[in-house]
Amino acid sequence: MTTMILALLLGTASTPAPTADTLRSAAARTGRDVGAAVGPHLLDEPSYRTVLAREFSVLEAENVMKFGPIHPRPGSDPSAFDFEGSDRLIEFAKANRMKARGHALIWHNQNPTWVEKGNLGIVELNEAFEGHIAAVVGRYKGRIYAWDVVNEAFADDGTLRHTVWYDRPGIGLADQGTAYIERAFRLARKADPRCKLFYNDYGIETLGPKADAVYEMLKDFRARKVPVDGIGFQCHFPVEMNKPDVLDSIERNFARFAKLGLEIHITELDIRVKDGSVASLQAQADFYGKLTELCMRQPKCKLFQTWGFTDRYSWVPRFFRGTGWALLFDENYQKKPSYDAVLKALGGKPKSDPELGDRKR
Ligand code: G3I
Repeated sequence: MTTMILALLLGTASTPAPTADTLRSAAARTGRDVGAAVGPHLLDEPSYRTVLAREFSVLEAENVMKFGPIHPRPGSDPSAFDFEGSDRLIEFAKANRMKARGHALIWHNQNPTWVEKGNLGIVELNEAFEGHIAAVVGRYKGRIYAWDVVNEAFADDGTLRHTVWYDRPGIGLADQGTAYIERAFRLARKADPRCKLFYNDYGIETLGPKADAVYEMLKDFRARKVPVDGIGFQCHFPVEMNKPDVLDSIERNFARFAKLGLEIHITELDIRVKDGSVASLQAQADFYGKLTELCMRQPKCKLFQTWGFTDRYSWVPRFFRGTGWALLFDENYQKKPSYDAVLKALGGKPKSDPELGDRKR
């Protein structure tokens, strides 16, 4: 107190320097969220925790809420489930004023052996489908704000993908087109009437047969009041996709889904490059910036989410050999040019902003 009075008398007191924006603070001013896919075990790392909570307003489980990890044993009683990892994520989200997004209830991948290879009969497969959605959505009712209810149900040519859920007669809907998807949405709505329910897929970002098929399904669902609230565009992109015609196609595609009244989420964005050179990272930043601007121009685009946030733990180099460096933070949690590009497109104030003084990193 004395120091303060003295400072005032001597005229040396100054207003506190304005702080730079984070991704989440900048996005919040536009009514949007910025999210990241995460793993609960990584929360043990202080830098991981710090950057996640500082920069992101949404977290989504990269793996632990998928059918196999969360429901590894048959049945619907508590012993069939493993909620440890997902509970930890939900608690972290709450403690850091973040929203939690659920991924994914019904998918063809990462299913448990008891579902995939258990040769379940009609009753059992039906119970697995219904019991899973009821139990998992029910457990996090009111705590998960949006769920990917069905993930990747279409093949690249726009036909329905053959999966255990589509092909088997167990849930009574074999070969009946999108009927099993509709059922999943209705069950999810029943388990949590207020959660936003999403269909999520990759390869549907630009106009084309796959996007058309998803569009027709969701148009039909909206017309018949099947409870679907939004569409998730995964956006796992190579940097070479950064072309005006591609961006234009994405924008027009987003617009037609928005017209259906659907909320749009960019759910799994990463942009892979072939090396970590300055030129590659600049090219990547340019694409990240343009995609952020595209989301900002679309009022229904409410979530800008990357699949992970540090290159240290990205799935990309494991799956696309010879590529990587796909996220906004490098392996040492340092902001990359792509971070600056996203922050700028969100209207955020960077640290090097002249108004904030010369505090360049
Ligand atoms: O958990 C086991 C661990 O016990 C074992 O020691 C280790 C050995 O490889 O494997 C671990 O499982 C791996 C799991 O990730 C957790 O790290 C699986 O092998 C691996 O296949 C799995 O990959 C995940 C992939 O989905 C599965 O399809 C990626 O991490 C995850 O990023 C990726 O996410 C998907 C989205 O869900 C849907 N959209 C595409 C996206 C990228 O493929």
